[in-house]
Amino acid sequence: MMKGLILNAEAKTASVQAIPIPKLDNGKRQLLIRIEAIALNPVDSLYVRNPIGETGRTVGSDFAGVVVAISPSQKHLQIGDRIAGLVQGSNSANSRPGAFAEYLLLQDDDVDLVWKVPSWMTLEDAAGVSLCGLTAAQGAFYRLGIPAPFSWAGKSSSVATASAKGEDGTTTVLIYGASTSLGLYAAQLVNLGFGGKRNLRLIGLASKSKFEMLKKEPYHYTHLLDYHSPDWPSQVREMVGEQGVDYALDCISEGDTVRNILSTLGKEPHNKVAIFRSKQSRAWDSDGIDTSKAIYGAVWEGLGHDIVYGNGMNIRATEESRNFTVGFYNWLSSGRGKLEPNPIRLMPGGLERIVPDGFALLGGGRMEDRDGVRERTEEWMRPVSAEKLVYKISD
Ligand SMILES: NC(=O)c1ccc[n+]([C@@H]2O[C@H](COP(=O)([O-])OP(=O)(O)OC[C@H]3O[C@@H](n4cnc5c(N)ncnc54)[C@H](OP(=O)(O)O)[C@@H]3O)[C@@H](O)[C@H]2O)c1
Repeated sequence: MMKGLILNAEAKTASVQAIPIPKLDNGKRQLLIRIEAIALNPVDSLYVRNPIGETGRTVGSDFAGVVVAISPSQKHLQIGDRIAGLVQGSNSANSRPGAFAEYLLLQDDDVDLVWKVPSWMTLEDAAGVSLCGLTAAQGAFYRLGIPAPFSWAGKSSSVATASAKGEDGTTTVLIYGASTSLGLYAAQLVNLGFGGKRNLRLIGLASKSKFEMLKKEPYHYTHLLDYHSPDWPSQVREMVGEQGVDYALDCISEGDTVRNILSTLGKEPHNKVAIFRSKQSRAWDSDGIDTSKAIYGAVWEGLGHDIVYGNGMNIRATEESRNFTVGFYNWLSSGRGKLEPNPIRLMPGGLERIVPDGFALLGGGRMEDRDGVRERTEEWMRPVSAEKLVYKISD
């Protein structure tokens, strides 16, 4: 038996329980991973508090670990390889594997959706890369069409053809929520997409306390504004002039953020914003605005399985989106994809402490609701800011 964090949908919580260690069937396409570290994402906490999965599902998406068994047909990996990836956990109504356990069995096409962790990266650092790194890449390259530093089936790398635009020869990219996990990867990927060319004007919205960090490599913002300042949209408009913002990523997508970002966009053909909360979530206010330039996507699209939410908001898997994930993870595996892991906060206590500590910090999905930990005085219970919450399974 092994320990796993198991959803109790009726009680809207999850607890550590003993469940069978999955067994590898050599006749099938399978991969058994011993999980060493996991990272938390707001969605894991959201769907434990508001369950759409059934009781008994294993919770959790982001993992890093070691291959302990593999079916003979799988030549791309070996026993002992250090790998990382994401699964859906209990974040859908259809049955999918979860990562917050001692072992994880991947099968069929899921076997391709892992990447080899380079020797310079710890498994704790690697655990926080897969979900937010892929989400940011999907937003920037797949949905907005910013030049990508890697290729995927049907699409070659476009870095070499990255063209400058605008009268002063610059392309302007705005990242709202620059200190989120998503934003930290988005900035790195956009910089890599422009091949280090300095005709990129990268504008970030973050707290002032993060400006020093965000100016430096690998984020390299050219302009930073405080998101607490109510007139930041006019500050951006003044900065970019008539050209407007070419591409934007709204890593918060709550309240007025989509409306404010749309007000900074320039003219066709670029002028789109990638958003990460759907209109149906009602997280952001869409009243009276043309939302056709706000393009939503869920990271799960990249897993190649239909996602059932059970509320009519199902997501169809597409081969193209899965090919994108394979291209991105191959790039990370190859070592050519020099994506710095986000700073991590290593949380104490292993699986047992995910619900009372980690999920308490992440709350029920909205940033503005992250207020449930004021009474907690432990050092690791400070608000999450520009870092990823990571647990070691062996703790
Ligand atoms: N669509 C998808 O597939 C997908 C995938 C991943 C994430 N998401 C969503 O994307 C959002 C970000 O996720 P994450 O894991 O990257 O978050 P996170 O790292 O936990 O976000 C924390 C950061 O948000 C910043 N922040 C809070 N409120 C803000 C505001 N109003 N404006 C600007 N910054 C603000 C905080 O900055 P300060 O500490 O300085 O205030 C803090 O650094 C979440 O809503 C998540 O559910 C969606």
